[in-house]
Amino acid sequence: MLSPFTFGRTVRGAMFTDREQASAKLRSNFENRINTTLISPRRWGKSSLVEKVATQVNGKKIKVVQLDLFAVKNEEDFYSLLSRSVLKATAGKVNEWMETGKKFLKQINPTFSVGIDPTQDFEIKMSWEELQKNYKEVLHLPEKIAKEKDIDIILCIDEFQNIASFEDPDLFQKRLRSEWQHHERTTYCLYGSKQHMLMELFEKQSMPFYKFGEIMYLPKIEEKYWIKFIVSGFERTNKSITEELASQIARTVSCHPYYVQQLAHLTWINTSKKATVEIITQSADDLLNQNAILYYKETEDFSSTQLNFLKAVASNAEELSSKETISRFNLGTSANVSKIKETLQTKEVIDIQMGKVEFIDPAYELWFKKNVMKINLPNKP
Ligand SMILES: Nc1ncnc2c1ncn2[C@@H]1O[C@H](COP(=O)(O)OP(=O)(O)OP(=O)(O)O)[C@@H](O)[C@H]1O
Ligand SMILES: [Mg+2]
Repeated sequence: MLSPFTFGRTVRGAMFTDREQASAKLRSNFENRINTTLISPRRWGKSSLVEKVATQVNGKKIKVVQLDLFAVKNEEDFYSLLSRSVLKATAGKVNEWMETGKKFLKQINPTFSVGIDPTQDFEIKMSWEELQKNYKEVLHLPEKIAKEKDIDIILCIDEFQNIASFEDPDLFQKRLRSEWQHHERTTYCLYGSKQHMLMELFEKQSMPFYKFGEIMYLPKIEEKYWIKFIVSGFERTNKSITEELASQIARTVSCHPYYVQQLAHLTWINTSKKATVEIITQSADDLLNQNAILYYKETEDFSSTQLNFLKAVASNAEELSSKETISRFNLGTSANVSKIKETLQTKEVIDIQMGKVEFIDPAYELWFKKNVMKINLPNKP
């Protein structure tokens, strides 16, 4: 029997839980042509959510085009991925892809070549010289196709923050923004795994993408959904877990979607029929052990005051820059504390939610408490 839990890839169907409000909101934005930026800490479920809503709205009148900038290192790659994906998603056959490409990329005049599977695959080559002069043709490609076909195109771009590492990121962002803002039939959904970088791109007044559209902050999935999800996953596969223990799984990793799935999976693997507290504790240890090398490395890179600061956070110290906390944890000065906060936020180790400093990675926090602070963790919820 396959595990009813999964992590490390986008989830759908029975593996996907909750997100009703966020799905409805994103769907409505797609249908009403509202550009959206989706922001959350790592692995909270952005890509899964976009995929889900994309499947819901994709049809005759709306075509969703999904790009992932994961491997895109420069402007040239960006243009070629964009044209290829838009052509492929909006036309039925290779011939039509090429014809449309030739028609709307006249100045650039790309060359097309058919890939291994001629019904599915084609490559598009554009000279960098022409692109520099005529990049607007590529940026307008989706809009032109949408208008011609009388459809709406939703362009979803994952790992969007990668554009910040292109050669001249400011110029490139200005180019995108100044063309995209005139599009009527193309709607943009931008997201990525580096929360801090995305916030810089979209929240800073001085940046080209400031107020480009709606910023949606994806919340965590609440415990009550996890309980149902975990209990039914066990039941479907002829094992059982009580609601209390399912809740313990969710709470151990602070309802972090990726880790809840990972811990639920390990518990499921370690359970032959009925889950117990001991099995969950053992599985949580397994989870930390699997990640230990990574955590050691991460910890080695911190300065001693940064470590002290994290100890204060892990101890739930109130008022991190108060005199008392500073002297108890040996944090130097309050200016020092602000600097540490900023650095650890940029490194995406901590996040500040409504004024409260939290570890972004709840499993790292557990490991940190256990190995750096030597706190024995309680077994019972
Ligand atoms: N709606 C959901 N229901 C159940 N599990 C989910 C859900 N969303 C995410 N997860 C869990 O979290 C993991 C990460 O999801 P996903 O890749 O969609 O997140 P992400 O925010 O795009 O991550 P990254 O920041 O790394 O790009 C999934 O593999 C799955 O285990
Ligand atoms: Mg993602």
